[in-house]
Amino acid sequence: MRWIAVFFATLALNAASAQVPSAPVRAIAPFCSPGGVVCVSVAIDGDGRASYSVSRLGAPVIAPSRLGFMLTDAPKIERGLAIMGSSERAFDETWEQPWGERRLVRNQYRELSVAFAEREGLQRRFAVVFRVYDDGLGFRYEVPAQDGLATARISAELTEFVIADPGEAWWIPALEWNREEYLYNRTAIDAVGLAQTPITFRTEDGLHLSLHEAALVDYAGMNLSRAEGQRFRAMLTPGVTAASVVRDTPFLTPWRTLQISDNAAGLAMSNLILNLNEPNALGDVSFFEPMTYVGIWWEMHLGQASWASGERHGATTERAIRAIDFAADNGFGGVLIEGWNVGWDGNWFGNGWDFSFTQAYPDFDLERVAARAQARGVQIIGHHETGGNAYHYERQMRDGFALYQRLGVHVVKTGYVADAGQAQGEGPDGAPTMIWHESQAMVRHQQRVVEEAFAHGIAVNPHEPVKDTGLRRTYPNLVSREGARGMEFNAWGQPGNPPEHEANLVFTRLLAGPMDFTPGIFGMQTSSPDGVATTWAKQLALYVVIYSPIQMAADLIESYEANPGPFQFIRDAPSDWEESLVLNGEVGDYVTIARQERGGADWYLGAITDENPRVLETPLSFLAPGRRYRAHIYADAPDAHWRDGRERIVISAREVTRADVLTLRLAPGGGQAIRFEALPGRIRGS
Ligand code: NOJ
Ligand code: CA
Repeated sequence: MRWIAVFFATLALNAASAQVPSAPVRAIAPFCSPGGVVCVSVAIDGDGRASYSVSRLGAPVIAPSRLGFMLTDAPKIERGLAIMGSSERAFDETWEQPWGERRLVRNQYRELSVAFAEREGLQRRFAVVFRVYDDGLGFRYEVPAQDGLATARISAELTEFVIADPGEAWWIPALEWNREEYLYNRTAIDAVGLAQTPITFRTEDGLHLSLHEAALVDYAGMNLSRAEGQRFRAMLTPGVTAASVVRDTPFLTPWRTLQISDNAAGLAMSNLILNLNEPNALGDVSFFEPMTYVGIWWEMHLGQASWASGERHGATTERAIRAIDFAADNGFGGVLIEGWNVGWDGNWFGNGWDFSFTQAYPDFDLERVAARAQARGVQIIGHHETGGNAYHYERQMRDGFALYQRLGVHVVKTGYVADAGQAQGEGPDGAPTMIWHESQAMVRHQQRVVEEAFAHGIAVNPHEPVKDTGLRRTYPNLVSREGARGMEFNAWGQPGNPPEHEANLVFTRLLAGPMDFTPGIFGMQTSSPDGVATTWAKQLALYVVIYSPIQMAADLIESYEANPGPFQFIRDAPSDWEESLVLNGEVGDYVTIARQERGGADWYLGAITDENPRVLETPLSFLAPGRRYRAHIYADAPDAHWRDGRERIVISAREVTRADVLTLRLAPGGGQAIRFEALPGRIRGS
């Protein structure tokens, strides 16, 4: 917690130098990003209420929006405030990700810290620190230790976000039973309901905004409630008492973030969320290697096998060995095995009390499977489904991680399947109690899991998680997560994901960070009415479009064995990148992303569309100068269609250089995937 110490030293200095101004400071003039693009202003009104506003290139983006807190056991902190002083600094560094969508990340901002205090009464003090980037800003409250506020019991944050211009929003509802697993709504901004973040806006002028948060640590997740018109207020996920958050002072809140771009691609290129997180606090995480993995998984979702024991049990020794051999033969790094452990036989959903994280079912020989994995150079990906019962899990997770460590497991997928508000954690009296998945209690639980896993050389991939807020920078063993509707929704016999779903995700949920979406299905007929509503080419493109350092080849082994042509792309595609470029896109319509593999010269491209066909002229200027590449192209056939021509794919190869422009023809619900294999030698004359 070195960074907290640095911050409080800074705050103490500011406070010492900040005298109560003789004539109160009423406003702080626009304070701008390094390139002068984004500016923030701060003001106090006649009642002593603080507000901030944001502009981009001189035009308002966030109209004056209030700041403050409501507390359960003391008057709210909102009126009667004065600006006590302010300080500024500039920062510019380039840091390296141990794994990621790009290796090097530039973090360049200007910071404004504004100290506020109540002029009368309890004279409580806090600061708001703004970090202003050319592509947006983040701000957080910093509450120092003080007599009038030893413990903050926060019932509500009064932070507002008033979107200045009319436009549209893409959002999912908050506090609904299915957590983060909803299809995106597209409505007018002034028709948004209680919403989760990230939420994406496009104003009538074409400005793209994404509101979210960064560094959610020991605090409740933030949702947005719309007060009226385009005025949103932070709505903290409820806790187990009337307070959503209980913190002793001093403390920092998470950053409230706003990414701003004049096009959709710019939002997806932004590093703002990562940059607002603290540097790696763990050190070496080289035990984790990005990989593609297969699993004993899709068969359960299709209903062909079961997690529970019995005749249909999926996780048998024989099946695990078959999956390990298949992974090894095809160059994949891991095998996920779900349902290996005792606890799946009764009603585990939203319950979880029966799960053991150390005891295998009798038809699963853990030692033998682990030995085979080791012999074949493949990792087992562990699985800890908790049924949302964090209370029960915390009492076993150390033993569970220790077992996995002994067996050479370096990644564990965790799961919290329970309706929203029906997870279980420790209440104030130490007894188990019902909690929300993004409550302060679950955020703390996530932290304990990440730390315990790290102590055992293990990375985690939570499903039904706390939302991503960029913590992978600080805890790089928090490698991926679910937190949206993944592929599994196409298997369950109810309406699955529509063709626009992934083009929505790129510009909403995925702005927060990696997702374990589990692409790569070739068996398109499922019991869902529309099956898997994409073409095969789009399934392949998702390996590039959706970033995750662990990427599943999710289909049954038989599907891959039967289709070696398209399967080749899944075998080739890396899951760790030197650089990533969003070449074009519109929210919910289409997107094209190119990525260079880390430690190699090859590039990969993925383009996807919604239900509409598209022709995308794509210059290859991202390729290295002076090099020739063989482009291995996986394209929709002319008659491909997500409804009745999903398997129609044309695989071809041609030589290209960065001077070429490719015409990508995407079918309805289609896509295109390309591997640009760097050829030896240089182009003459270059
Ligand atoms: C839901 C997860 O998203 C899925 O991947 C997993 O198979 C089941 N829970 C069981 O843990
Ligand atoms: Ca799920």
